[in-house]
Amino acid sequence: MYLGFFRDHGHAVISGGSLIPENDPTVLFTTAGMHPLVPYLLGEAHPAGTRLCNVQKCIRTGDIEAVGDVSHLTFFEMLGNWSLGDYFKEEAIAWSYEFLTSKAYLGFDPNLLSVTVFEGIEGIPLDQASIDIWKKLGLPESRIHACPMVDNWWGPAGQTGPCGPDTEMFIDTRPGDGDADFHEDNTGRFFEIWNDVFMQYNKTAEGLYEPLQQANVDTGMGLERTVAMLQGKPSVFETELFSSLIEAIEDACSRRMSEDPDVTRAFRVVADHVRSAVFILGDDKAVVPSNLGQGYVLRRLIRRCVRFAKQLELPMGFSRSLAETVVDEYRHAYPELDRNRDRVLSELGREEEKFEKTLDRGLHELNKVVQKMQEHGQATLPGRVVFKLYDTYGFPMEFTEEICREQKMAIDREGYEKAFAKHRELSKQGAQKSFKGGLADHSDATTNLHTATHLLHKSLQMVLGDHVRQRGSNITPERLRFDFSHSQKMTDEEKQAVEVLVNQAIADDMPISMEVTSLEAAREAGAMALFDGKYAEQIKTYRIGEFSLEVCGGPHAEKTSVLGKFRIKKEEACSAGVRRIRAVLE
Ligand code: SER
Repeated sequence: MYLGFFRDHGHAVISGGSLIPENDPTVLFTTAGMHPLVPYLLGEAHPAGTRLCNVQKCIRTGDIEAVGDVSHLTFFEMLGNWSLGDYFKEEAIAWSYEFLTSKAYLGFDPNLLSVTVFEGIEGIPLDQASIDIWKKLGLPESRIHACPMVDNWWGPAGQTGPCGPDTEMFIDTRPGDGDADFHEDNTGRFFEIWNDVFMQYNKTAEGLYEPLQQANVDTGMGLERTVAMLQGKPSVFETELFSSLIEAIEDACSRRMSEDPDVTRAFRVVADHVRSAVFILGDDKAVVPSNLGQGYVLRRLIRRCVRFAKQLELPMGFSRSLAETVVDEYRHAYPELDRNRDRVLSELGREEEKFEKTLDRGLHELNKVVQKMQEHGQATLPGRVVFKLYDTYGFPMEFTEEICREQKMAIDREGYEKAFAKHRELSKQGAQKSFKGGLADHSDATTNLHTATHLLHKSLQMVLGDHVRQRGSNITPERLRFDFSHSQKMTDEEKQAVEVLVNQAIADDMPISMEVTSLEAAREAGAMALFDGKYAEQIKTYRIGEFSLEVCGGPHAEKTSVLGKFRIKKEEACSAGVRRIRAVLE
């Protein structure tokens, strides 16, 4: 209905983007519908025109610990419409109002609607235009509230880019309770469902707001929240969007979600986290659980889910069957979930199993230490204990922190970071002592094998997918060893395909050139690297013809034809989610 409404108002319906942002290392996941549209909000022409709408899958984990209340979700669907320098406040607000209140559309009682607008800061005035438009539509002044920047300004906090004031729409969930002060209410009576952002500024690196060359509209309506309001439900988890999943959990543990508040919370966390994990793993650009970036967020979601599942006494292997329910429920709207079903189930099942094995021992250890600390009147858990829980039992730091908070304990974050850094330094020293940069020596044979790893890396990505990343390498004059992120055993066909690609690249006799650039320039050029801040400002990139571009210290051969014939000798598991290839040049 939403897409139809905006189509009727001249909008092109475009498809939603991946959950993994394209070419943008500043965010881990797509957090709003505007995210994939940033270049167009800044002025680039969009091929579908200046009026767009869509449904975007989003992940937000900033509030992960709030999941369990009536409205917080880490995965949600956002309905959005955009004006790229086309219409502005007048039309945007009028259409929001019509869609929300018209009997032909959502049909909310206009008396239940409250809105907020931006109150202004020095240099940017109160959004009087929005107030006037709302009044003209019939909203009494008593239900139009001016709020400060923290509430009514959209823009990635602290970062540069398109931003602007917004007007947010709320539904009164308890109109029978009489008048309430909107600003004072902290009972969740007023439930936000839609946000119209007027993106007319660009925040510069100096923190200034300069007018954009075009004034845009970016609106976002939370699907789950809106459905809860339409169906008169007290929480998003009671809507039909969640009913199959909640039923599946109830069946698996023989309990009712509404039993008591602790059980309700655990149900909600399990349902939310399983759904998020399924969508992350089911994305065509999937990441798999790891200790880095997106993989770490995914791991944290799954492990947190397992912890709450324990509380409900869900049987081992619960995550696979719940994931099946999610895939079946959403596969029509998101066919990628069906396509990637096997990966979703196996990765989720594997991570669950791995964590279940150590969870009890870790919790036992943690409870013991917490008890001891409390007996001695200590209110902070030492950093090295937090690190040990991470290192030995796979407890993400945030996880330990959350459990501690429930027991009124703080954790020593700084001490944890220190213990972590020391550990990293020691392992680095260990690695350096044996091999510099993974190379045993700088002989021709070793150098050639090193060049072959670049061809291998790229070929693995081509055959297995973009999730493949180098995790380590170790090269002697006799052979190369290459570790990479991937969780299935490679089939014979896949190994063969990789060999063919590498050998073709060798046969093409491509030149290899080195360039010293800034990290930024290498990133922009699309060089493969971890980009995790461990590189110096100026770095070397090696280009092999048009085939591969990678940040690397060298040394490398001058052209590929000297390498000989590449052959994979062995492919095996190295650690969870990481495979290891041994290969030779003959
Ligand atoms: N970007 C705004 C939000 O996410 C409106 O779409 O709330």
